[in-house]
Amino acid sequence: MSLTVDKINDHFKTISLNDEWRFENSRSTYQYSHGYHRYPAKFIPDLVKKIIEERTDENDVIADLFAGCGTTLLEAKLHGRKSVGVDINPVAELITKAKITAHNPTRLKNVYDSILTKISLYDGTHIEELKKHDRIDYWFDSENKAKISYLFEHILDIENKNIRIFFLCALSNIFKNCSRWLQSSTKPQIDPEKIPQDPFQAFSKQVKFMLKTNDEFYSHLKSNGFDRIRCDIRMEDARRTSIRTNSVGAIITSPPYVTSYEYADIHQLTGYWYDFIDDLLDFRKRFIGTFYSRNEDLSTQSEIGDKIIKKLKKKDLRAAREVANYVNDMYDVIIEMKRILKPGGHVCIVIGNTTFKDVKILSSEIITELLLLNDFSIKEEDTIKRAIPVKQIPTIRDKKTGRFTTLESKNSKRVYPEEYIIIASNN
Ligand SMILES: C[S@@+](CC[C@H](N)C(=O)[O-])C[C@H]1O[C@@H](n2cnc3c(N)ncnc32)[C@H](O)[C@@H]1O
Repeated sequence: MSLTVDKINDHFKTISLNDEWRFENSRSTYQYSHGYHRYPAKFIPDLVKKIIEERTDENDVIADLFAGCGTTLLEAKLHGRKSVGVDINPVAELITKAKITAHNPTRLKNVYDSILTKISLYDGTHIEELKKHDRIDYWFDSENKAKISYLFEHILDIENKNIRIFFLCALSNIFKNCSRWLQSSTKPQIDPEKIPQDPFQAFSKQVKFMLKTNDEFYSHLKSNGFDRIRCDIRMEDARRTSIRTNSVGAIITSPPYVTSYEYADIHQLTGYWYDFIDDLLDFRKRFIGTFYSRNEDLSTQSEIGDKIIKKLKKKDLRAAREVANYVNDMYDVIIEMKRILKPGGHVCIVIGNTTFKDVKILSSEIITELLLLNDFSIKEEDTIKRAIPVKQIPTIRDKKTGRFTTLESKNSKRVYPEEYIIIASNN
């Protein structure tokens, strides 16, 4: 049966957990290039694989409008499907570019050997120019800063652009370990006790892992004839993309989690080192659903959303604004999805609900409503609920402050124990 707007709330109450979508102990996260770089709330590749295999055809172009670190694009390529993705975050663009390109292993190894030679010549004195940025000095001690500058300088000299991106991705993934950033935290927080890792050792370990998985990836693409499959990542806003009208067979995506975290802040180490961020405040505004974007108006297109915002407003005006921005932004994204999808195409959205200061923020129900308002159809059985055994998202909130915390705190409460996969068809 197809869902209607008036049935959404009741329907969601009846959905039970579907174990076919659980993927506990999934190894796919480290296969091929999937494990090149940490990224908050990234997809489990097996989940995308199942959607591609069950819901798409060989000739479908697959899109992801919140591509993140490129899980959808990479899985599409591994399945021989063309794909296109956008993300507003330049760090996401960099990681995705690195992950969707497989390299000739010998060529890659030769470049790595030349970097190792440079490392062996390091004596701490001959760095051309040390990066100047007060935030870099805040996160890194002077020895690690000098070593990272040295690596960075040599990576920038690599002639082949794609190989350069491969090593920039490797370097980016060691920034956290080599800085004062609290290792157990996704959010920016100094750990005064931390002994940061040595950049040369961390870089070598990271590259060795990437070289090994590149080999698997390269052989898979070559043996299946998928090495020339088109796979395109663009740094764009999901609300206004350059993807052609009626060109996409399926969208597989996971939007940001509302009131969860600021992607702009989380990726600041790479942002500062690679000059992606001039002004952090301006950078934050580009992301969907942040407190920093948009206007003061709290009304939205969603009745479900409006009720939640009304309750939130009584407890926390800032959170109410964030949710209103989120709903309005997602409305625009769904219009954009409609534009790029072929008639009969599918959109598969993975989204979790959360609770903020005891107010339930039912993002999955809001998004279902927005899809129906934009003339998508959704079968009841295509709203799937899954447990989240592995996913890098914050899950514990303090009940009083709404801030993320640890389970030890007596006020703690789990907020993303499960999520929904909503599959809608373009009428
Ligand atoms: C939940 S993550 C997606 C993770 C992705 N599924 C993966 O496997 O890596 C949400 C993404 O939305 C992106 N985002 C936020 N605002 C955006 C916007 N206005 N346009 C495009 N992407 C945006 C963030 O940068 C983040 O990468």
